[in-house]
Amino acid sequence: MLRRIPSEALSHAGPEEQELRCKLLRGATIVFFSAGYPRKKFIYRKAAKMGVKAVIIDTPDSWAKSLVEEQVIAKFIPVDMGMDAESVFNSALAAIKELSADEATGPADGICTFLEQSLEMASRLAEATGLPGPKPEAVDIARNKHLTRKVMADAGLPSIANMLIENESQLEEAARKVGFPSVLKPVGGFASLGVQKVNNEAELLSVYREVVSVLRGLVVSEGSALRSSAAPDERTNGVDLDKVIDTTVMLEEYLDGDEVDIDIVMSNGEARYITVSDNGPTH
Ligand SMILES: Nc1ncnc2c1ncn2[C@@H]1O[C@H](COP(=O)(O)OP(=O)(O)O)[C@@H](O)[C@H]1O
Ligand SMILES: [Mg+2]
Repeated sequence: MLRRIPSEALSHAGPEEQELRCKLLRGATIVFFSAGYPRKKFIYRKAAKMGVKAVIIDTPDSWAKSLVEEQVIAKFIPVDMGMDAESVFNSALAAIKELSADEATGPADGICTFLEQSLEMASRLAEATGLPGPKPEAVDIARNKHLTRKVMADAGLPSIANMLIENESQLEEAARKVGFPSVLKPVGGFASLGVQKVNNEAELLSVYREVVSVLRGLVVSEGSALRSSAAPDERTNGVDLDKVIDTTVMLEEYLDGDEVDIDIVMSNGEARYITVSDNGPTH
């Protein structure tokens, strides 16, 4: 249904267009790739209230499966997120295609996620099913902090000194190129995970080792969530950690002063919604 409406009619601001958007959502089937934390339940409640038939794809033991009985979502699709990314993608795609034959849902009208680490997968699923969504190449750039800086610099936008670090032998060069104080961070991180300030060259090696070990201490349920796990044996889950966890980090210039978040929702190359929030000074 959503596919048949011209995008201009969907994107204009204004009360009538807003009413149209709400009407269209009523009865629409929206797939959420991974459920997020239990605290995200309010989003599914809100979606249900708006008449959305929500479908959640997540690990078989996810808290969200009970939302079906609670009549908050229309369907829960269990997918083993411990598999490699390609298998997760193929299972999810097959299940999304099968929705067409499911009376409780009907075919998917949209695929989304609000988990940063699921963006790559969600964008690829949307592309494969012909549903709207950000291009996977754009998502890959946005999800890789080093690539983001490179694309910005290539576009002639202001950026800061930075260097990708794939192993210890590159630390000296990074110190020379970036200087101190600087910030070491995983290129694929989120929620400030593993982000550390480095005050001088003497600290660099120990901070580097610490950040890499934090990254290795996490089990990636590929395509979905990162989880800490207690026992080292359990941690590996039979998975080759080096294949699953990106331990690539980058060093970049430390910026002091106030930090401001600017969040923009883009559609067809235009900004549709912008918020600016003050985060206070960096630490
Ligand atoms: N170059 C930097 N200079 C100063 N502070 C930084 C810098 N990079 C990151 N930080 C601090 O660390 C936090 C997390 O870093 P960020 O790059 O936003 O990673 P994430 O994607 O995990 O949020 C930022 O909100 C900021 O406070
Ligand atoms: Mg951030």
